[in-house]
Amino acid sequence: MECFSIKGGVPLHGEVTISGSKNAAFPVMAATLLTDEPCVIRGLPELSDTRFMAQILASLGAQVRFKNGTLAIRAKKIRGFADYDLVRKMRGSICIAGPLLARLRQVRISLPGGCIIGARPIHLHLKGFAALGAKIKIEGGYVDAAAKKLVGATMFLGGRAGSTVLGTANVMMAAVLADGVTVIESAACEPEIVDLADFLNVMGANVSGAGSPTITITGVKKLHGAEHEVIPDRIEAATFAIAAAATDGEITIKHARADHLRAVIDKLNEANVSVKRSGGNLVVRRQGVLKPVDVTTLPYSGFPTDVQAQMMSLLALAPGISIITERIFESRFMHVSELARLGADIEIEGPSAIVKGGRPLSGAPVMASDLRASAALVIAGLAAKGTTQVNRIYHLDRGYENMDAKLRKLGARIRRVEEQT
Ligand code: EPZ
Repeated sequence: MECFSIKGGVPLHGEVTISGSKNAAFPVMAATLLTDEPCVIRGLPELSDTRFMAQILASLGAQVRFKNGTLAIRAKKIRGFADYDLVRKMRGSICIAGPLLARLRQVRISLPGGCIIGARPIHLHLKGFAALGAKIKIEGGYVDAAAKKLVGATMFLGGRAGSTVLGTANVMMAAVLADGVTVIESAACEPEIVDLADFLNVMGANVSGAGSPTITITGVKKLHGAEHEVIPDRIEAATFAIAAAATDGEITIKHARADHLRAVIDKLNEANVSVKRSGGNLVVRRQGVLKPVDVTTLPYSGFPTDVQAQMMSLLALAPGISIITERIFESRFMHVSELARLGADIEIEGPSAIVKGGRPLSGAPVMASDLRASAALVIAGLAAKGTTQVNRIYHLDRGYENMDAKLRKLGARIRRVEEQT
């Protein structure tokens, strides 16, 4: 298996261009199933997960060509049954359920497995489908949803952690061809939901309120083919900003949306890191000694859970006590024990991690566990003295396009090598 070998201590300098958003890609790619006409989606990140999503769409019968970040697709004739193994492997594929239900009035999909960060239930997705008139059956690890007709309805999709991002996406897509008006209350407000609504409207749908907790969808008869470019990946942008701050460097981040990063920029400023807009780019620079800050992850526009691990790596370097509280997932602290191997002093107290920052980190072999925890370990390795080997970096390749090449371009001494067993 491949790993990253990182020689830390080099401040990052230069320019990095952010790829398209992985979490915008899945719903937008799935939305192409809503029409039998050709669609073109541009600016997609070339990741194992996006290639996998393209494979799933092809397995449903769509004609698919995915090359150099562009998906050309025509879902002329499709079936409502996604291969059990394909869907179970990647949670993001759950968002094919809504479009298949809307287009075919029936869908059979495997229950997405939980993953290392939590149980990942989908009851809110199913609550939305049922509100539109679908009959739901769960057996043998599959979900069957079927409806003679989908009728617009008002529903509340708030759950234990506030809203659900893919649940909101799924129900929006199920509702665009329903009879009448659907109102989703306690909808997710993430930029990826706004991006999906933009694409649906270009296809001829009638979606308003995306980005707010109340989204209104007026059903239409048919959607036509369309072209779309996905938004930049705000989580990747945050990851590189934090890497620059952790290594005491200065970088310019191109193709990033500052308006999608307000909570992250606010916390970085509080930690004594400047993030300035300059001609559509972001210039990130630490302004002296890092300061400890308290962070709580929340639904958008709060601090994103997908940046929690990376922020922990930074705060391990900030002299003083920082408290990081994870409110979205039940077990998203897998990176803590690995950061401790690099010398970080972090104690978990229920949903919070108490970070006693300021001790210098020193390199060691560490194990990646989930996508964002892996990014946190890379950041810590870049800041640590000596060599850090991050194993199982296939987790990273799922969500970061050419991360090592981008980091090398910023001066990092990072190599992709075979894992020494
Ligand atoms: C999306 O996952 C993202 N993935 C996640 O990013 C992100 O962490 C998450 O939103 C929260 O922002 C994609 O977009 C592909 P949720 P999603 O439904 O939609 C609970 C990454 O690293 N919940 O918003 O699956 C759930 O258990 C990934 O890029 C229910 O209780 O997340 C969680 O505690 C990781 N019932 C909370 O809501 C449901 O029916 C948020 O989950 C659905 C969710």
